[in-house]
Amino acid sequence: MALKALRAARHGGSILGALCVFHRELGDVFRLPLPGFRAVMLVGPEANRFVLVTGRDRLLWRPPGDPVARLLRRGVLVTDGDEHAALRRLLGPPLHKARIPGYAPQVVHWTDQVTSRWKARGPLDMLDEMRRVALLILTGTLFDADLTPDLDRLWPAILRVLRYISPGAWMVWRGAPQPGIAAARRTLDRWLHGIILERRVTQDPHAPAGDLLTGLVRSGLPDARIRDQLLTMLIAGHDTSTALLAWALYLLGRHPEAQAQARAEVDAVVGANAPGASHLDGLPYLGRVIDETLRLYPPIHLGQRVAAVDLAFGNYAIPAGTRVLYSIFLTHRHPAFWPDPDAFDPDRFLPERRREQAPYAYLPFGGGPRNCLGMAFAQAEAKLVLARLLQGWTFTLEPGRVSLHMGATLEPRMGRGAGVLMRVQPRTGSPA
Ligand code: HEM
Repeated sequence: MALKALRAARHGGSILGALCVFHRELGDVFRLPLPGFRAVMLVGPEANRFVLVTGRDRLLWRPPGDPVARLLRRGVLVTDGDEHAALRRLLGPPLHKARIPGYAPQVVHWTDQVTSRWKARGPLDMLDEMRRVALLILTGTLFDADLTPDLDRLWPAILRVLRYISPGAWMVWRGAPQPGIAAARRTLDRWLHGIILERRVTQDPHAPAGDLLTGLVRSGLPDARIRDQLLTMLIAGHDTSTALLAWALYLLGRHPEAQAQARAEVDAVVGANAPGASHLDGLPYLGRVIDETLRLYPPIHLGQRVAAVDLAFGNYAIPAGTRVLYSIFLTHRHPAFWPDPDAFDPDRFLPERRREQAPYAYLPFGGGPRNCLGMAFAQAEAKLVLARLLQGWTFTLEPGRVSLHMGATLEPRMGRGAGVLMRVQPRTGSPA
């Protein structure tokens, strides 16, 4: 079986292929056979409920030394206990769904800024393009900062830290060399400390806080802790949306009938106006395309914790110190919970079919008290960006096989470094 798993990993271009083999052969609980990396993988709704809800107090986030914890230091994503709860209270309000109407015009603005470069171009890598969109939106809305002048300079540093936190040699070799990571961190830290300092000087203490950065500056947190939250948001908040948007465009390219249906809905509901918060509920088909994209290609395809004490899941003993992984990807493709699990079928998410889904069988944003803080923001962002793109452009997939790449998120890969190459065609008379 190990051989079968290895072959699957090689052909699939990702360890995800190997995880699928282990799941098929060993069932919903299995150990990962990696030297020096004591980990157990749990799959399925019951396992998810155990990790996220019933067993959560006995599961810590990550051991110190893990690259994510080293990079984000005391960011909300990697803290536990009271500090974590206090940070969630502080960071929650700017990400609440009540704030979406204020952000919507900016989402359209930053999308248009990226597509304005598209006009006279050939095939484009939608992974790169959507990363630009997601970075500009995140910093423009939550930090109230224009990243445009710094984007090209920061780009290599962002990609370097993403590589650093991706699965890699560090999992079996703690001291694996990490060339370039110190310089990349310095570059990002300088930019983040620059915007923190500027906000301390320019903010009007009598005006409402508005964005997340101003709220942090007023919270009394020292700059180093503010940096940790900003870097957390920058990474967790853009790389996930990048993957979601790139996979959604890939699926709309693979299924031109779905692209036509989504576009017809946008034309009927939004017309030539800029998509805004008032249109969100009127785009249910586009919403189902997004839901199905997140099922097939969940950007965070697994979550991890560490057993703080000896634990048991059913009959399975989990000694203290074991990494406990819950697989969103394998749950989303579990044949016991999803008919024809590998097929693209947005109508699985029609309200009447949704009611049949088992609790914790669908969890692209995690669940329980550590669920995604940016869920409402990300869902609205994806719908607004895709509506804007469909208004102005048609998307055709370039020939070539797209495989799943396990980076910091689950990304599409077409080979030779490309994510997903698509030909974009402006629609005549479109608003873009
Ligand atoms: C499609 C987009 C997104 C997806 C699929 C996604 C997915 C997730 C998942 C699965 C978790 C839980 C991980 C776990 O259980 O270990 C999570 C946590 C988190 N996400 Fe997201 N996310 C997305 C967008 C965002 C955005 C836009 C932001 C912020 C602007 C954000 C901020 C966070 C934070 C701060 C946490 C940690 C919460 C905590 O530990 O209390 N995410 N996300």
